[in-house]
Amino acid sequence: METITLHTKHTTYQMGILEHGFLLHLYYGPKAEGEMDGFLSYYDRGFSANPYELRDQREISMDYLPLEYPCYGNGDHRSPAFRMRTADGVFAADLRYQSSRTVPGKYAIPGLPAVYAGDQEAYTVEVLLEDKASGVEVTLLYGVLPKLDVITRCAVVKNNGTEPIFLNKAASMSLDFLDGDYELLHFYGRHAMERMAERTPLCHGSQGFGSRRGSSSHQHNPFVILTRPETTERSGCCWGVSLLYSGNFWCEAEKDQFHQARLQIGLLPEMFDYPLAPGEVFFSPEAAMAYSGKGLAHLSHIFHRLIRRHVCRGRFRDVRRPVLLNNWEATYYDFDGKRLLDIAREAASLGVELFVLDDGWFGVRNDDNSGLGDWIVNEEKLDMTLADLSHQIHRMGMQFGLWIEPEMVNEDSALYRQHPDWAFQIPGRKPVMGRNQLVLDFSRKEIVDHVLEAISQVIAGARIEYIKMDMNRSISDVYTAVSGYQNYGTIMHRYVLGVYDFLERLSARFPDLLIEGCNGGGGRFDAGMLYYTPQIWCSDDTDAIERIQIQHGTSFGYPVSAVGSHVSAVPNHQTGRSVSLHTRGIVAMAGSFGFELDLNHLTDREKEEVREQIRTWKDCWSLIQDGLYYRLHEPSRHPDSAAWSFVSPDRQEMLLNIVTLDTHANCPVPHIRCMGLDPKRQYQELSSGRLFPGSALMHTGFPVPVVPGEYNAWQYHFIAVN
Ligand code: DGJ
Repeated sequence: METITLHTKHTTYQMGILEHGFLLHLYYGPKAEGEMDGFLSYYDRGFSANPYELRDQREISMDYLPLEYPCYGNGDHRSPAFRMRTADGVFAADLRYQSSRTVPGKYAIPGLPAVYAGDQEAYTVEVLLEDKASGVEVTLLYGVLPKLDVITRCAVVKNNGTEPIFLNKAASMSLDFLDGDYELLHFYGRHAMERMAERTPLCHGSQGFGSRRGSSSHQHNPFVILTRPETTERSGCCWGVSLLYSGNFWCEAEKDQFHQARLQIGLLPEMFDYPLAPGEVFFSPEAAMAYSGKGLAHLSHIFHRLIRRHVCRGRFRDVRRPVLLNNWEATYYDFDGKRLLDIAREAASLGVELFVLDDGWFGVRNDDNSGLGDWIVNEEKLDMTLADLSHQIHRMGMQFGLWIEPEMVNEDSALYRQHPDWAFQIPGRKPVMGRNQLVLDFSRKEIVDHVLEAISQVIAGARIEYIKMDMNRSISDVYTAVSGYQNYGTIMHRYVLGVYDFLERLSARFPDLLIEGCNGGGGRFDAGMLYYTPQIWCSDDTDAIERIQIQHGTSFGYPVSAVGSHVSAVPNHQTGRSVSLHTRGIVAMAGSFGFELDLNHLTDREKEEVREQIRTWKDCWSLIQDGLYYRLHEPSRHPDSAAWSFVSPDRQEMLLNIVTLDTHANCPVPHIRCMGLDPKRQYQELSSGRLFPGSALMHTGFPVPVVPGEYNAWQYHFIAVN
């Protein structure tokens, strides 16, 4: 069989071209030479129909063969990657292989985030498929990054026919496996409790999750792992897929009648109805895939490296981010310039480098019922201009940052009174309200232009080095006033393109801005957003103990540098729990570190501790950001203590973090089995000076100190000696 083979350093991916151009998926796994079509078993299978040209070869059916980009209409009754409809309402397609070519470098996607790489670091394989009857072409793009062991995918659909068609499904990737002995590891959650890891066996039928909220959502994350049942952090096979997209998506894992598996991710097909006139082209969002034969930790490391170096952009990609203090939990809406400066002064004196003014500085905004959309500084409330405030903060030696929520509008705002039709609302119906606000139709360029202009003026009018871009409700009542595009079927995708356009243009205008993403915390924590914002506020839950679980789930697909994490006040505002400043600091250091409280309220001893935390973070940031992150506890198996470590790429240093989650009388001693160390070296723990063999740290494990009390935490710095 003619094959198309992609090799990375440690993996191989293969497609096969069956007679009459049916494109099969033959292999994705550890590096292998040769052709894989010998693994297929052909026989006449009941109720699995045959293509017309092969009607005499009843052993050939699209209904069981592993397919590269399955389409609805040629006999495959499993979940298709591609489904289109004609103007007459007929669903049919039969995509057949035409040609393929390899070009140097990594493709880009117009208007959408995509992995980038130098011409020496990547190559692109283009595989052209065609549906003869309609003239529709689908080009499958594969970006191969050999050194990283990553393959990206995107489908480009072109209507080369004479009649319009409607896309109903165009997945970013589809991966078939010849057996179904797998487990699905995915990340579900809710507001203030995002990305909880859940691992379930793959069952017959389909398991799916996704978002129909307009953002990638708190509830499900567009990152998924398929593992062998025996796979652990330390060993075993697993495949990860990350969708670079920040809106509605759908991920589906299917186990078919022959116990074979299929994994897909892409735009949410539900109500997706995208017209393509003759000559028009549609680009799917990109999916990045990786295979690890060395367990989950290694798979995560591949995605961490990919996102850090080939997704995040801009001048903050590799550098230490400033230690920030955000006033949200310190003041909420209740501030004036003087109160902010009081907070800032104390922050500066303790070593904070960036002061962020959160919600409430614009329009009439003293609670969350009004003002969104009016991006005009409320100088009366501040009792000074924003330029003055920023100037005074700079004089304290800090940078200045600002919160925005560009996609939103309150009914009680000048913008809404002037342009009620700019908000999503369906004529004749009352809209669903979220936080008493409506969503602006960012699928319309003139609306994006207006908001971008207004916010740019504010940024240009004061010295501003950082922006936190928020989004505080799910999208509903989708209807646009632009004729021809009223339906949900196109707007939700074009809305996301509008958000990306806003971010792209904002960064182009202000290339030195550090932009932090946010969606009521981590409701848009995805690789698409990280293309524009190198860090994202991980969750509105700042409780250190809950954060451990949130950051644990987040770490499977995303690097520590992407995680906005702050020390906040106790009792915690979300849970009412009190945890020591020490523990809060250790948890917040597993991210882009900052504070979210009024430091004036701390005792002198606590202030000294804050100084010390900032010093530690500055000393260790490179180990934290550039080191390899290891999850050292499995929450369901080790409910009493959590642990994670950062190990430098040369295995010279380790920062081991431990937090106890429960306390017992006469308790057993948990041992934290470290990972990623050099088994042949001794490691010195700096605070005690004691030596530990690397191999034993990984086998016996480091003993968790037995100290009475709740939520104790330790951070141990180990350095290898010869
Ligand atoms: C939700 C964010 O996640 C918070 O940090 C804060 O910025 C509020 N919105 C402000 O309205």
